Amino acid sequence: MQRRVDWAAAVMAAAFCLSPLGPTAAQDARHGAALAEERSCVACHGPSGVSAVPLMPSLAGQQADYVTLQMILFREGLRQVPAMAEPARGLTDRNIEDIAAYFAGLPSAPKPDRGRPTRR
Ligand code: HEC
Repeated sequence: MQRRVDWAAAVMAAAFCLSPLGPTAAQDARHGAALAEERSCVACHGPSGVSAVPLMPSLAGQQADYVTLQMILFREGLRQVPAMAEPARGLTDRNIEDIAAYFAGLPSAPKPDRGRPTRR
C-alpha cells in the first residue's frame, strides 16, 4: 500500500513538472533580454536595468511578478504612463513574463544612501 502511494506521488510530481504550469515552464530570460533590447527598455530604465535618473524606476532585481503585473496594467491601459504605452503594446503574457524574468535576474542597484540615523 505504501509503495502504491509513493508511485502515485511520483506520477503526480512528474505530471506537474511536465505541465505548462510546472517548474520546467521556466520563463525564458534570454528571450526577455532580446525583447528588452528590441524595445529599448534600458534607454529609459538605465543600462542593465539600473536607472541613473531618480524619476525612472530601476528594473534590475525587481520581483518578476511585480514587473509582470505592471506590464499587463500598462498594456491594458489600466496604469497610464504615456512613456510605457508603446513599450508594452502588443506583448503577449508570455513575452511579458520573459522580460520580467530577465530583469529579475539582473543584479539590483545598491540601495540609496539615506545617511545614518540621527541621534536624539
Ligand atoms: C520612453 C521611456 C521608457 C521606455 C522605453 C520604457 N519605459 Fe518603463 N517606464 C517609463 C516611465 C516614465 C515609467 C513610470 C515611472 C513612474 O510611474 O514613476 C515606467 C515604468 C515602468 C515599470 C513600472 C515600474 C514601477 O516601479 O512601478 C515597469 C515594470 C517598466 N516601466 C518596464 C519597462 C519595460 C519592460 C520596458 C521595455 C519593454 C520599458 N519599461 C520601456 C519609461 C519607459
